[in-house]
Amino acid sequence: MPIVRFSVSLEKELLQSLDQFAAENHFTNRSQALRHLINEHTVTHKWQCNNLVAGSITLVFNHHRRDLMKKLTDIQHDYHDMILSSQHFHLEKELCMEIIAVKGKAASLTKLADRLIAVKGIQHGKLTMSRAD
Ligand code: NI
Repeated sequence: MPIVRFSVSLEKELLQSLDQFAAENHFTNRSQALRHLINEHTVTHKWQCNNLVAGSITLVFNHHRRDLMKKLTDIQHDYHDMILSSQHFHLEKELCMEIIAVKGKAASLTKLADRLIAVKGIQHGKLTMSRAD
């Protein structure tokens, strides 16, 4: 894609935040940091985004919660065409982490992630997405 140059006016504090963000994440310059932020914003803006994306859903939960594993499996079967693979890690005696690799329209993946994260007993859930088109 062609690169377009433009200038940006920012409050000093915002610029400092940008520079700090760039440094912490090892971006080589401000353009790269801004590009990352804009992409991330666009991709995660689910309602306006019909882009093809790939990503992962991370779930942390206690497998002793009644029906939890079954519910997670049922939901994943409902969305089987978007799920590339899933991996289960036994973190502690009762604590589990599942990482599900997904690919599809951003809005659909968001819906899938929302359903999984809403299952009773999920302690932590997060969807990350990158453009895949
Ligand atoms: Ni486990």
